Amino acid sequence: MNKGNDLGIIGLGTMGSQLALNAAENGIQVSVYNRDIGLEKGTVDNFIESLPNNFEINGFIEYHAFIASLNHPKTILLMVPAGIIVDTVIEELLPFLDNGDILIDGGNSFYKDSNRRYRNLKEKGLHFIGCGISGGSEGARHGCSMMPGGSKVGYDITKNIFSKLSSKDKNDHPCMNFIGNEGAGHFVKMIHNGIEYGEMQLIAETYSYLALYMGKEEIASLFKSWCKQGYSSYLLEITIEILTKKDEKGYVLDRISDKASGKGTGQWSVNAGLELGSVVSVMAAALNARLLSSDSELRQNDLQVFPKGNIPQLAEIEILEAFFFARLINHLQGFHLIQQASTEYSWHLNLKEIARIWTNGCIIRSELMEQLAFTETFWNGLLDLEWVKDTLESNLNSVRTLIRRSAELLHPMDAYSSAFNFWLALNKQQLPTNLIQAQRDYFGNHGFKLSDGSDDNLHHYAWN
Ligand code: 6PG
Repeated sequence: MNKGNDLGIIGLGTMGSQLALNAAENGIQVSVYNRDIGLEKGTVDNFIESLPNNFEINGFIEYHAFIASLNHPKTILLMVPAGIIVDTVIEELLPFLDNGDILIDGGNSFYKDSNRRYRNLKEKGLHFIGCGISGGSEGARHGCSMMPGGSKVGYDITKNIFSKLSSKDKNDHPCMNFIGNEGAGHFVKMIHNGIEYGEMQLIAETYSYLALYMGKEEIASLFKSWCKQGYSSYLLEITIEILTKKDEKGYVLDRISDKASGKGTGQWSVNAGLELGSVVSVMAAALNARLLSSDSELRQNDLQVFPKGNIPQLAEIEILEAFFFARLINHLQGFHLIQQASTEYSWHLNLKEIARIWTNGCIIRSELMEQLAFTETFWNGLLDLEWVKDTLESNLNSVRTLIRRSAELLHPMDAYSSAFNFWLALNKQQLPTNLIQAQRDYFGNHGFKLSDGSDDNLHHYAWN
């Protein structure tokens, strides 16, 4: 007889507490437990006390009672910081778990850790789900984009819970679906964040270029007009708000240090690109931009070299076209990396469905994502879509103009340049990498293949 609660949540940080409220509001019976990891003592009591009357959530401060409050099979969502703490909590829980119980890790865990946890727990008869969750605290509270991966059996049992917690797409379908085996859910969330890095950097570079000759309010209204023309995104919308936020001390943005940091998922994404042999140069440029911004030793702040005087303006349409071009490349690279991982790990990922999951609730939701998700055509890479290729071709001239101008002004545009050079290289029939092969053969006898494709063997040349 199951008279207990449907879901146990461990961890009452920002995300865990908001998900508990979201669940309770959606008719899910919730138990919460806090391990007091980096949180004030008494968090559970404080949380329960702060609940409005109509919220019924049971709080516990010891595992026994928490576990006893749950239905069978038990479904436990871990909302603790990624890393070793996840393993520690799993270890602590193991004595209380039975065959068929379901453990969900909703943190930003590294996908290889999720691969390992999935396999270890499977051996113990437990269903492990590594679930990427995007949308910040707002999404956790009112509907987030969810990327569960790992145990399909566990997912089928808990699907209803995921559906209730997630945001809904334009057709009112949950922005959630089973992503794939092992750590596939966390892999896809990781790449979501990598794309997020690229999107943020492209907006920042666009802003920085425009700021050479436009004020913040003017830039904000230009961005607003883009949103009205079908180019809106959550990140662009919050940027408009940020740019115009003012108080008695002036613009808030002007008081914020330009040293940017990150929690690691951007770096993991770039590493995954290198490991799987998939170029993600826009997200790498975004990561580098953050690293460089914080390198106070290398940064010279030598403003003398920058030209003064009249700055030639770009037509608004040219900036918009350049921006959309670079965003398309950023998405193309991110999805390509997902596709590479899918092949490498036999995850059978559905890229179009992933785009649909990213149309609402998550940080990279945008009209572009909707175009990718709701197109009739099946695609397994952005270049399968004719309109993407056409747009890249027709917008190429604008991005060239933007880069040329910024170079003349000695203004750094690394993410834009990466997108531009990526596309140029893809479209070159002959790349200089034959010279690389010759050099490798010259000094290391590494061999090269023939350009006429007459055989697949490695050849050597007697260079000297
Ligand atoms: C999300 C966000 C979220 C978090 C980022 C920030 O999808 O809700 O991506 O996961 O805000 O991890 O990442 P950085 O601290 O690395 O910028």
